[in-house]
Amino acid sequence: MLPTLPLLLFLLLLLPVPLSPASPPAVQTCQDFIHCLISGGGGFPSNLIYAPSNPNYSTILESTIRDARFNSTSTPKPSLILTPISTSQIQAAVLCSRRHDFHIRIRSGGHDYEGLSQTPFPPFAVLDLASFRNVTVNRAEKTAWVQSGAVLGELYYRIAKRSPHLAFPAGVTNTVGVGGHFSGGGFGFLVRKFGLAADNVIDCRGRILDRASMGQDFFWAIRGGGGNTFGIAVAWKIRLVTVPSTVTVFSVVRTIEQNGLDIANKWQSVSSKLPKELSLDLLLTTTNRTKNRATIKIAIFSALFLGKTDKLLNLMQSKFPELGLTGEDCKEMTWLESVVFHGGFPSNATVEALLDRSKNSPLVWTLKYKCKSDFVRGDPIPESALLKMWEKLMEIEPEFGGILMFPWGGEMEEISEFRIPFPHRGGNLYMIQHMAYWSDEGERHVGWLRELYDLAGDYVSREPRSAYVNYRDLDIGMNGEEEEGYERARVWGEKYFGKNFERLVRVKTAVDPENLFRNEQSVPPLPRGIRSQRIAAGSQFDRCTL
Ligand code: FDA
Repeated sequence: MLPTLPLLLFLLLLLPVPLSPASPPAVQTCQDFIHCLISGGGGFPSNLIYAPSNPNYSTILESTIRDARFNSTSTPKPSLILTPISTSQIQAAVLCSRRHDFHIRIRSGGHDYEGLSQTPFPPFAVLDLASFRNVTVNRAEKTAWVQSGAVLGELYYRIAKRSPHLAFPAGVTNTVGVGGHFSGGGFGFLVRKFGLAADNVIDCRGRILDRASMGQDFFWAIRGGGGNTFGIAVAWKIRLVTVPSTVTVFSVVRTIEQNGLDIANKWQSVSSKLPKELSLDLLLTTTNRTKNRATIKIAIFSALFLGKTDKLLNLMQSKFPELGLTGEDCKEMTWLESVVFHGGFPSNATVEALLDRSKNSPLVWTLKYKCKSDFVRGDPIPESALLKMWEKLMEIEPEFGGILMFPWGGEMEEISEFRIPFPHRGGNLYMIQHMAYWSDEGERHVGWLRELYDLAGDYVSREPRSAYVNYRDLDIGMNGEEEEGYERARVWGEKYFGKNFERLVRVKTAVDPENLFRNEQSVPPLPRGIRSQRIAAGSQFDRCTL
């Protein structure tokens, strides 16, 4: 039973490890690591360790590679895949990683947009948490415990099956893993009413470290400070939210000829001011694509309304009549069905489709993709610039390119930028996800996406140009050597975390000074020489409370 397990585990074992060990031969290190796992007190069963020679290695590896960009012959492959089924095995993996300086990457759902959970330079092991997928709902308390390897579809399904009036505000795609998603924030159609997934993580407990023993700063950092940085989250206690038994959804398309540009332009100033019960997203994209060019611009407006159609129609008529929404556009259903509606499933899919971890929109499974993010603050993008960005989508060579815009406002306006590491709150009109999906070889599609991103540069948040850590983007900066760790990381760190970056560095320095948990964009600890100075400098954040 889940509550008897160590539920949130941050494994920072106090074994002496040199900061910059001389690199031992990789093969020997790997053998030592395996030996440590199996017989060095680790107790890790050998049948849960997959080396490349194992016939099931590729199947396990590919089971949660969600982006074909990271499944090519040139993609670096892990020396080992570890598939623990108990927390003591996770603990053993961390202990042996530290003892033998053998790098591990944590993988929950495998959706990292830059593949960071599975593709560093070898040697490294993937610690795959796919077996940790329990969801235990406490209906009376309106809470649940969910393990990190569960995917969002399972979480939503289990909650709604216990009570159709309960829900959880997290992402749209059913195969996204809880572990990475909560570590970076996590939002979907309920964000305007209830905030992020990480805003609704309320507790954690465990044999090794729990909320009480990890302390306030540590607990603050893990809810949005980025995955693979502070330790391994095994499970999370979350606050469930109440939804009506009937909600309304729609997805309507407007072309330029149907006044799409004017409507999209109006959307920019209206969408964040709508009542919290309505989340109305906008996707600018194209259709009727021939080889190198599309010929029709389309704007797709997709919504979830926590109420019935008649109320929604009245609301839209008074606040956004330009969209011309009609009763025929709207569908009433349960909240769980709305997750399927917006999840990219075929129209005849049932809610059970949410449980299928192996299935998702074909777009995700077969194509390569990259995305970049932006926040629009204060003023909307001028209509002429919006048109220019939309025009850029016409020269699309990738299979699919789009500018997906998520309205902010509502609850996001009311939550302090310091409450958790995710800082993008009041003053933002909406967030943008610039997207490219393609199937052939070639970096040119990434170049195209960067050009699209450049077109938005003058009209989005600046100094820094903000970004969402869960839409991982290595273009905005990467970690380097330890000595320059802080200054280099600040470049990308302040884009993701704003003023919270300093506090994250302080927490990291306190809880993982040797930087055991790291990746190309993990918050670094301060080098030993300047740690005390920087910690003092960061004290302005001491006032922050949960
Ligand atoms: P993955 O396993 O790759 O982990 C991501 C990062 O977290 C890695 O660095 C990993 O090492 C680390 N990590 C994983 N498990 C951990 C654990 N237990 N403890 C500590 N660190 C851990 N976002 C959003 O907010 N709303 C949305 O609707 C969507 N939709 C969406 C669709 C698709 C198709 C993709 C590819 C991505 C999204 N996302 C999203 C972004 C998503 O939230 C983000 O990629 C998450 O980090 C994915 O978490 P996974 O566990 O699936 O990935």
